[in-house]
Amino acid sequence: MILRSDWTRRGLLGLGLAASGGFLLPRPARAETALPLTPACRDDDDEPTPAQTEGPYFTPNSPERADLVVDGVDGPRISLTGYVRGRTCRPISGALLDLWHCDAEGRYDNQGYRLRGHQFTNDKGFFGFQTIVPGVYPGRTRHFHIKVQAPGGDILTTQLYFPDEPGNVRDRIFDEALLLHIGFPFTGPVASFEFVLA
Ligand SMILES: [Fe+2]
Repeated sequence: MILRSDWTRRGLLGLGLAASGGFLLPRPARAETALPLTPACRDDDDEPTPAQTEGPYFTPNSPERADLVVDGVDGPRISLTGYVRGRTCRPISGALLDLWHCDAEGRYDNQGYRLRGHQFTNDKGFFGFQTIVPGVYPGRTRHFHIKVQAPGGDILTTQLYFPDEPGNVRDRIFDEALLLHIGFPFTGPVASFEFVLA
């Protein structure tokens, strides 16, 4: 997987061009084919994923779905994929991931479920969403919101961030431990993250 540190400049530019040119609208891929990501599982890499504030716009009971680009949602596509594992590298299957974020204009849907959805990890602890790149909500840097819960476990509520985003340094709750890895393994950008649950 190619990691691009200049994600903001080239990635978003590319996404913008892609959005206007229309070549970057992949068919919803099966989660298993979206990302060749191997969990690191190093001895020094077992710190649990940090929790962050839920923010004011969580809506419970989101629909179960992998593709959040429905109902006229427009914007540059991105996949959000990764794994959920325990601190001993054990993959956690059946873990719930509930994702929500603003649209390309920085607006949250607080009446319905646009850009909201949940799914469960497979037997390898893998998940995969298809969505759009969030816009920038006023006063914040670009981010996803997500809740992650192992079966019968505590709920981890946190946020995920984009590398090289100018707003990161000004954001009061930004945490570099929550940076996504951005790759372009196939036809479109893939943001990946490995959640470690305590
Ligand atoms: Fe937010």
